[in-house]
Amino acid sequence: MNSIYNKFNSSRNFSRWYDWKAHRDQLTKIFKERALLKNKPSQNIIIFGAGNCDDIDLNCWLENVDELYLVDLDISSVKDALIRQKVDESKSLKIKLLNIDVSGLTKAGFPKKFEAMLVDEMPRKKIVSYIRKVANDLKPIDDLSDLYGSFSVVASSAMHTQLVIPYMLKTLDLLGDYLSPKEKKSLIDEAKYLIYKVIENYHQVLINLVEKDGALFIWLDAAEVSLELGNIGVLPDLEKAIRTSDLPYIQTIHQKFCIFGATVGTKDLFNRFPTFSHELDGSKNHWLYWLWPYDELKYYLLYCFVIRM
Ligand SMILES: C[S@@+](CC[C@H](N)C(=O)[O-])C[C@H]1O[C@@H](n2cnc3c(N)ncnc32)[C@H](O)[C@@H]1O
Repeated sequence: MNSIYNKFNSSRNFSRWYDWKAHRDQLTKIFKERALLKNKPSQNIIIFGAGNCDDIDLNCWLENVDELYLVDLDISSVKDALIRQKVDESKSLKIKLLNIDVSGLTKAGFPKKFEAMLVDEMPRKKIVSYIRKVANDLKPIDDLSDLYGSFSVVASSAMHTQLVIPYMLKTLDLLGDYLSPKEKKSLIDEAKYLIYKVIENYHQVLINLVEKDGALFIWLDAAEVSLELGNIGVLPDLEKAIRTSDLPYIQTIHQKFCIFGATVGTKDLFNRFPTFSHELDGSKNHWLYWLWPYDELKYYLLYCFVIRM
């Protein structure tokens, strides 16, 4: 699993740091103005899905906290990001790196068994029942239980759409040649049930980590607009809708071109926290949106939530 995510992260293009500046600056602004508490001298943050850190200006965020935990199952990409961003030595003392699979699937032995089943060319039905069993038995990770209630800000960086499904698609591509496209699709459909459990558990861990009055700070790629999907034509209208805060149009785009993990993630957040303000006002919970230009062929509709606990 780690090596697959390492390959995804390594496919990073070198201009990304510059191309994502507006997106990164927006996140920095919200982090400083909304997620951190005003007038609290000592604050800390834990960020899940740090990866290449192209959306996190580490030097700037480090100026505002005493501790910065960076979590990813591909920790080598995080180490490369620290070098790329030239985090100076005194500041780097504040950083802790945690190599954790937050889905809990590695702990449950899932990647090893799933890959072995494909290598042994097990029938689709057997794999489906295995995935169902793993989903039913899955528990939230307990690696971080010593840190519960201890973070001023708990952040999640574009994680929801990356959980499980990309790993399974890639693994089926590499090891599932004996299965028909229809059989592969039915395995991915089964994985969607697994994703519900993974995201519910993941959110519970994030919430457990926040201290009283601290904030959850979650951003996710809610919908894709790209040449590949053939929907790039909606871009001008979507840009206008974002500029004019036309929420019904934005939600239509989300529903039409959503990415599965993001839909599950937003639904679970709305169930847990029913009210959000779209303005940067004095409300407790904020839901903001903008366009994240991923590369020249692909844009994401970005949803960002700041939830005060
Ligand atoms: C889209 S990236 C987030 C963007 C990243 N901050 C950047 O700037 O490149 C998602 C990250 O989630 C990590 N990830 C995916 N599944 C994970 C899991 N189960 N546990 C921990 N990290 C995971 C990936 O390795 C990847 O680095």
